[in-house]
Amino acid sequence: MNVRETEDACLVPSYTKLPLTVVRGEDVWVYDEKGGKYLDLYSGHAVCGIGHSHPKLVEAIHEQAKKLIFFSNAVYNDTRAAAAKLLLESAYPLSKNVFFVNSGTEANEVALKIARRATGRPRVIAMETGFHGRTIGSLSATGNQKLRDDFPENLSNLTDFVPLGDFDTLEHMMSEDVAAIILEPVTSVGGVRIASRKYYDSLRELCLGYGTALIFDEVQTGFGRTGEMFAGMHWDIEPDICTSAKGAAGGFPLGMVILSEAISTAPAPGEHGCTFGGGPLAMAALKANLEILKSENLLENARKMELVVRDLLGAIPEVLAVTGKGLLLGIELECPAKPIVRALLDQKIIVGGCDRPNMIRLLPPLTVKAEHIKQFADALTKALAGAKQSA
Ligand SMILES: Cc1ncc(COP(=O)(O)O)c(C=O)c1O
Repeated sequence: MNVRETEDACLVPSYTKLPLTVVRGEDVWVYDEKGGKYLDLYSGHAVCGIGHSHPKLVEAIHEQAKKLIFFSNAVYNDTRAAAAKLLLESAYPLSKNVFFVNSGTEANEVALKIARRATGRPRVIAMETGFHGRTIGSLSATGNQKLRDDFPENLSNLTDFVPLGDFDTLEHMMSEDVAAIILEPVTSVGGVRIASRKYYDSLRELCLGYGTALIFDEVQTGFGRTGEMFAGMHWDIEPDICTSAKGAAGGFPLGMVILSEAISTAPAPGEHGCTFGGGPLAMAALKANLEILKSENLLENARKMELVVRDLLGAIPEVLAVTGKGLLLGIELECPAKPIVRALLDQKIIVGGCDRPNMIRLLPPLTVKAEHIKQFADALTKALAGAKQSA
């Protein structure tokens, strides 16, 4: 079977794919069908924070599959109880309970629904560079206008978009009918950006003053990606609702909506549901993921490796800036990023792009070591030299 031809023939063509077939992964490495070895500095799309196919995760999923693959929330389950307890112990201090779903966009749908239900208000404020997913509710709060215009029958008439970090504009937009402000504490696909501590402080105060729910979309920043378990912890800012997904279960599909004390009365029994949410396999994976993050000190490693990236890339003249936090990093180049991403792939290194045309995104597994970053820095230097020659 020709894998690429078969996928192209059988799947809806909604993805632009790299010319790469991945058949196996181990820690920071993935392998193609011919045994070619690639350094994955993109974690399989910001997902495999503990590295690919971590043996303890594999074992946890295997053991759970032997016991019980699935039963819904219509019953109690030992693995779900243990995982939820462990999760809340690692989440924001005021977290009260959690609703499990299967993906990031689903988590944001639920968060927006709960915020509207809890406040009885219709409107949402979101960031111009924010990304929250592709389903209608999440898309309606996604800043990228092209994505919304492709599907104009969305709810963005209920959303006001403001620039991240501009508190005056945000304050001006605020009113008594705003159910929620939703943002990624560190934006990712919209270009890796962070606001100031003062901005996050003022944002928290503003929401409290208006009785508006503050939603942190930590789909990408959660589970240690930025060097804290959740990114708001860098500034001691707690959202009322925290959504997460990607790195939550080491690659097993899992999304979640964590509610704080302030909002946990909604929804009432019967008001929301999700058949697969909190299934035993996902819960076994979540629990193993949390245990691995802790036992291998991966948050600390993320913080250390950020410094290594900044140090090594700071020495490359064509790198104009390194933005972001922990291991969610944007590398701003003096030339377009797309050809560089491809040139790195030719050198068997996988990185990501983003909405900023000159920026590549690094989202390596949190297990990454200095030697891997050195390999990347050398490959980047070579790719940039090649780009200069062909310019
Ligand atoms: C910040 C953020 N929110 C939401 C989503 C949507 O997640 P999913 O693709 O799991 O629906 C993404 C995906 O990239 C994301 O980065």
